Amino acid sequence: MSKKPLILGIESSCDETAASIISENDEGSPVILSNIVSSQVDIHKEFGGVVPELAARSHIDKIDWIVKKAIDESGINIREIDAVASTAGPGLIVCLSVGLSFGKALSVSLNKPFIAVNHLEGHALSPKLTTKLNYPYLLLLISGGHSQYLSVKNLNEYKRLGTTIDDAIGEAFDKTAKLLGIEFPGGPQIEILAKKGNPNKYDLPKPILNKGGCNLSFSGLKTAVLKITKEIKTDQEKFDLAASFQKTIIEILEKKTKIAFLEFEKQIKPQEKKFVVAGGVAANKEIRNMLINICEQKNYDPIFPPIELCGDNAAMIAMVGLEKFKLKEFDKLDHPAKPRWPLDESAAFLKGAGVVLK
Ligand code: KG4
Ligand code: ZN
Repeated sequence: MSKKPLILGIESSCDETAASIISENDEGSPVILSNIVSSQVDIHKEFGGVVPELAARSHIDKIDWIVKKAIDESGINIREIDAVASTAGPGLIVCLSVGLSFGKALSVSLNKPFIAVNHLEGHALSPKLTTKLNYPYLLLLISGGHSQYLSVKNLNEYKRLGTTIDDAIGEAFDKTAKLLGIEFPGGPQIEILAKKGNPNKYDLPKPILNKGGCNLSFSGLKTAVLKITKEIKTDQEKFDLAASFQKTIIEILEKKTKIAFLEFEKQIKPQEKKFVVAGGVAANKEIRNMLINICEQKNYDPIFPPIELCGDNAAMIAMVGLEKFKLKEFDKLDHPAKPRWPLDESAAFLKGAGVVLK
């Protein structure tokens, strides 16, 4: 029996320091041997968002023992590792540099190949850690920094169908939470508060709902929330606003996802219709339920990573590393940290003033 590949994944693009060892079973399916994630939420809480300098310092403090813990928990010997995969972008450059340099140094000392991973590709492939999933598929990536519909044709072959022209969905959740006086990151708290509120109490705008294909926009929504928060006085009104906000996001995603389905079908003509939803916001159960519902209506197979693999983690980085390792797609040690690294390099930049949508 040939040796199964052992891949070390390292993630430090934002405020999670993470390391993971994955391998394969006899059927060729990935197996997670360890998956260590250390969150910096407590460090950034008082600032209401991630402070890059503090995040980078914390990564530097923790990276070596997080990697050691991942190796120890996996039960392997460090010398058995076949390749080291580190996130190289997109993200905060001071944070990326920590995991990237550590990964490169380890690959040199072990004399094993180095693989530079796109963090977004990690999210895109995250369901593969637990579900058999063949290309092509439609991907909705919803995180704190990104909101995109992409057709995933193959490893490293992405076509963007739609993106946000301003805030990411997770960012909209976090900013709304901040306006409601909830600690960072407030996204998960909004979901909890919304359960106690009336989703029909406040009528919030749905920017570009009827134009721009499956592109998204959330900044007008945030402005409307800001106005209302100035007037609300009771906890019940807070709950109602959280519920109304979440319902509005769900209605936007429902309409835009149906458009994305049509564009994916037109472009790919897939034999099987598969819809993968990944990124931190994919943990939201109300959003999940709506997306599962429309998948049933439109004959799509809905695929979500388990909740613990929705947020940032290194198992998903190792997953990309594993696929690249099998194709012998290795990177040089001068691979840069890339703060901006779109999955579809050919897609137009759609942020800021001057963007015209049909
Ligand atoms: O993918 P992720 O862990 O980090 C990025 O790459 O951005 O996503 C984090 C984002 C945050 O904005 C967080 O508030 C949001 O995901 N989030 C949620 C929920 N859980 C996490 N948003 C809404 N509902 C949730 N349950
Ligand atoms: Zn992420």
